[in-house]
Amino acid sequence: MIFLKIIKVRSEQELGEQAATLVLNQVKQKPSSTLGMATGSTPKMLYTKLIECFQKKDISFSNITTFNLDEYIGLERDHPNSYHYYMDHQLFNHIDIDKKNTYIPDGLTADLEQECQRYELLIKKRGGIDLQIVGLGLNGHIGFNEPGTAFSKRTHIIELTPSTRAANKRFFNHIDIVPKHAITMGISTIMEAKKVLLLVLGRQKAPILQKVLYGDVTEQVPASILQRHPQVTLITDIHL
Ligand code: F6R
Repeated sequence: MIFLKIIKVRSEQELGEQAATLVLNQVKQKPSSTLGMATGSTPKMLYTKLIECFQKKDISFSNITTFNLDEYIGLERDHPNSYHYYMDHQLFNHIDIDKKNTYIPDGLTADLEQECQRYELLIKKRGGIDLQIVGLGLNGHIGFNEPGTAFSKRTHIIELTPSTRAANKRFFNHIDIVPKHAITMGISTIMEAKKVLLLVLGRQKAPILQKVLYGDVTEQVPASILQRHPQVTLITDIHL
């Protein structure tokens, strides 16, 4: 049974606009929403559009809390490839969000296991995530839940697969400096979000998106679990 709502778009620009409209509606409905954030190439236009909405005074983030899906282990916060840096530069520095209410896993702390538990607790204390934005990895990952990760996992440490490291090499100078590990929300954490917004851009993701939507629900294709989430919206430029 697929509960998914699909919005087809023709460009990255349109994906950004449609996604921003959904986020805007969420924030209008509940100005103190907790949003789950993704990084990577796909949501960049969404963040650009949200900044535009903020500048036009269509939206305020002053009562919003955010939790990012993941962070690399071992990168300094001000490293240009860290997700802390990404969020500051793509969104947070340009809107009225209180940075104290923006959470990203700490990939630098000595006790990473404890950090995973702390992150879960923070999400719980905040009452859970209202709207979780997710991108799709070429191998079907969401967050950094790589194929084979148990659906029951909560925030945890993951070893990135060679294919994910190769895909993310484009942001680094050399494959050797792409981190090997990350902290990621688990599939269970993501599935507890009240709504999920899945963003998928580019023809190269057509085969995996086909599996995610119409294939078996299997840990080998982590995003396939979304078939079982009651409120998912997919925005994509892929025509299946
Ligand atoms: C990013 C994340 C990843 C990406 C995915 C797609 O926070 O959790 O799952 O969403 O790797 O990345 P892009 O959008 O760069 O193709």
